[in-house]
Amino acid sequence: MQDFVQQLSSLLDSKYVLTKDEDKAPYLTDWRKRFTGKALAVVLPSTSAEVADIVKLCAHHHVPIVPQGGHTGFCGGATPDDSGKQIILNLKRMNQIREIDIANQTITLEAGCILQTAQEKAAAQGFLFPLSLGAEGSCMIGGNLATNAGGTNVLRYGNARDLCLGLEVVTATGEIWNGIRGLRKDNTGYDLRDLFVGSEGTLGIITTAVMKLYPLPISQWTTLVACQDIASSIALLNLFQKRATSLLTGFEMMTQESLELNEKHFPQMANPLSGSPPFTILVELSDHESEDHVKQLLEMILEEAFESHLISDAVIASNLTQANAFWHMREHITLAQAQEGANLKHDITIPLSSLDSFIQETDVLVRAQYPGVRIINFGHLGDGNLHYNIAPPLGVDPKSFNEKNEKSIHELVYAQVERCHGSISAEHGVGQLKLNDLRAHKGEVAHELMKTLKRALDPQNILNPNKVVSI
Ligand code: FAD
Ligand code: MLT
Ligand code: ZN
Repeated sequence: MQDFVQQLSSLLDSKYVLTKDEDKAPYLTDWRKRFTGKALAVVLPSTSAEVADIVKLCAHHHVPIVPQGGHTGFCGGATPDDSGKQIILNLKRMNQIREIDIANQTITLEAGCILQTAQEKAAAQGFLFPLSLGAEGSCMIGGNLATNAGGTNVLRYGNARDLCLGLEVVTATGEIWNGIRGLRKDNTGYDLRDLFVGSEGTLGIITTAVMKLYPLPISQWTTLVACQDIASSIALLNLFQKRATSLLTGFEMMTQESLELNEKHFPQMANPLSGSPPFTILVELSDHESEDHVKQLLEMILEEAFESHLISDAVIASNLTQANAFWHMREHITLAQAQEGANLKHDITIPLSSLDSFIQETDVLVRAQYPGVRIINFGHLGDGNLHYNIAPPLGVDPKSFNEKNEKSIHELVYAQVERCHGSISAEHGVGQLKLNDLRAHKGEVAHELMKTLKRALDPQNILNPNKVVSI
């Protein structure tokens, strides 16, 4: 292996091949501190050619590669195993924005570009880069595409996959596939781009992407509303979909219990709605025309919702600072959970028509079988995507609670997801966290097809082995 590391150091400036423990340490533990691994080396290439050379060398020596972006993923996909035989290939030095094509309304950017930087560059040219998530200050485009990230704008603009038009990918044999195209139509056989999107670094290494841009809205109105139950929250969503159609750009849900946790850790984020409602909904409308038009529309829909008893209270943000405060309240739930200690995450989607029964029944089952647990349920309700997270009862050590109950709680929740024909991973991916749950969820045929693809594209199993599928 000494020989391998020496050869690695000859492929790029040796200061970008990290082998000392203290240099590697920041790359070895995931954001949630759920997984820690070991690595032979961490390499930081700056060009696709360097990535390709590294992959060829790894293929020659049978050294597995863990691709890594901002390392904010929730499923341990970017964390190596504990063998110490894998290398981490972190893309952060490939961070150039190559082009903003104004006529084509696209942005071409390298995999290590931070999401927020892409949004800011696009905005400076009058465009919206719609992918938006709590980790946008540190996650990277390659990681967003590899996980097919969702976030808060999916309802209107789709997830990372929907925004992607072209890719450049380094294959498991170290070839460079140039699929850098900004085409909205291209039916030339199998869709390789869509194969790599969402593959979590197991089929290829994404080095460059062409993504869609949209005109920047001139007016946005954000409101928090109180709903007494989930059925009213969904009826409210349907009302907004009917009246506001494409102007509806955000519909997020927070339960009372998740906002209580927020307030415990961030007291400045108190819910402005009166009486801590069971469900607080954040709604955002965006418009490209006049300020007045969208505000009037919002007020009209809220009035109708009051009259139909769908909502019991509402606060419309009067300025950008207040609107940002509403969004911060929503985004801080994840941070509050991190402060509280380890919890059991369930990133699930349920058809909206079954969501009411899912929540009602699952809440009852969880509370009956695990008395005192806190159900931190929030998420992108407009997409039917819940973050149905379970925290231990107050005063109980999270580590020992999780060790004892993790398997059975996951089984309970996932059985409910199956009953409702939902998905056990809505937007966070599979990584190593859900590797063993995938077979049952996908079914034998789909799971075998996934393994066939993995074997075909990565016959030596060197790209992120034992993530998503094991072969
Ligand atoms: P990493 O964590 O570094 O990697 C993720 C996976 O992609 C790994 O399997 C890795 O091997 C692979 N990978 C990374 N780069 C490449 C590449 N160039 N080529 C091939 N494979 C690669 N996610 C959502 O979907 N919606 C949310 O609302 C959301 N909110 C979040 C809020 C917070 C506070 C945090 C911490 C995370 C949140 N996430 C959310 C999860 C996470 O931010 C996303 O999954 C994000 O897309 C990961 O990007 P990353 O650059 O950090 O990827
Ligand atoms: C979010 O929507 O804030 C993240 O995806 C959340 C999480 O599961 O913590
Ligand atoms: Zn989310």
